[in-house]
Amino acid sequence: MARAMPRKRSVQQLVQPHLRALEPYKPVDPPEVLAKRYGLRLDQVAKLDANENPYGPSPKVVQALAGSTRYSIYPDPLQRRARQAIADYAGVNPEQVVAGAGCDELIDLLARLVLAPRDEVVDFPPTFGMYPFAVAVQGGKVVAVPRLEDFSVDLQAAQRAISSRTKIIFLCNPNNPTGTLMPESTIRSLAELGPLLVVDETYHEFCGSTAVPLLSEYENLVVLRSFSKWAGLAGLRLGYGVMAPQLVQQLIAIKSPYNLNAAAEAALYATLDDTDLLLQRVRTIVEERVRLEGLLATLPGIRHYSSKANFMLCRFSGAPAHHVQQELAKRGLIVRHFSTPPIQDCLRISVGLREHTDRIVEALRQILPPSDSSGDKPALEFVPRSKRGS
Ligand SMILES: Cc1ncc(COP(=O)(O)O)c(C=O)c1O
Repeated sequence: MARAMPRKRSVQQLVQPHLRALEPYKPVDPPEVLAKRYGLRLDQVAKLDANENPYGPSPKVVQALAGSTRYSIYPDPLQRRARQAIADYAGVNPEQVVAGAGCDELIDLLARLVLAPRDEVVDFPPTFGMYPFAVAVQGGKVVAVPRLEDFSVDLQAAQRAISSRTKIIFLCNPNNPTGTLMPESTIRSLAELGPLLVVDETYHEFCGSTAVPLLSEYENLVVLRSFSKWAGLAGLRLGYGVMAPQLVQQLIAIKSPYNLNAAAEAALYATLDDTDLLLQRVRTIVEERVRLEGLLATLPGIRHYSSKANFMLCRFSGAPAHHVQQELAKRGLIVRHFSTPPIQDCLRISVGLREHTDRIVEALRQILPPSDSSGDKPALEFVPRSKRGS
């Protein structure tokens, strides 16, 4: 007997219930959109809102992309050459490496690999927004453990937040958007808690600190990295994870076969052939961050948090942060505002070229009302727990 035809449903009803009301991840807008929004020419826009590299990719990447003959052939689903090249760079074995379309894809793949609906994930806000997004798509639940006032991780609260349903802990290190770097002891303590500990080291090259040596001790540790920031490949989408070989095999089994596209792969080899230049640029960016910190310290109504990455979080007391952001944008200086507490009074400024720093500081001088108090304003320093009083 023929089965009864289902009643006609709206396409919306075909969508899984937990995804119907999902807020899209809020990405940053491209320069053309920003120029139009603020009535500027494209060359007036200094894009300091997404921690992109102001120097762009290596010239060798541009050359390799123009010269590649591989675009008509599917890339290797097992990423053999790419995993070997990344492993050599990261100082690990290729069996421990899997590459993806940006670190974002690896966050998504890990969530897909381990989360069943209603499983829990711990993260430490304010932090990177892709973690709750990837968890929500899987129907999981984020248990947020707010960072302490200095944006360090509250280890005791983290311990209390773990339940039998906790599958992943996401630690962004250095943290976006605060720039905070947690020490190895914190990573160890979190790894001891049992769930998969995903340490996102997208900004690794700017600080040199890494959890990679701990991989031999903790099977549940995953380190994520990106070529977007230090190597200037954000538009090509290239990231990787380093983890236990069994996990790599599982991720390779569930990823889409050709996730590492031929252009990104060509850019990978050219980048790794030009690390001296790229890491020199990284050092220049870090020096520029230090210069920006020094200049901001001379301005009234603004405090910055000490950062170990290529951006800086600044707290405004002289004027609402959102107003400052709009005023900077009118001058072509695009920085990031976060509307949620505890950083609603803050802006995140990506470190750009020297001229960008000068433009930002000059604009802030115009925007912020003069202070009636004088004296030095030290950065809001991160003090490890062990060095704090009580
Ligand atoms: C902490 C963090 N993780 C991951 C990403 C995404 O990196 P990718 O461009 O490699 O996807 C970003 C981008 O801003 C980030 O800040």
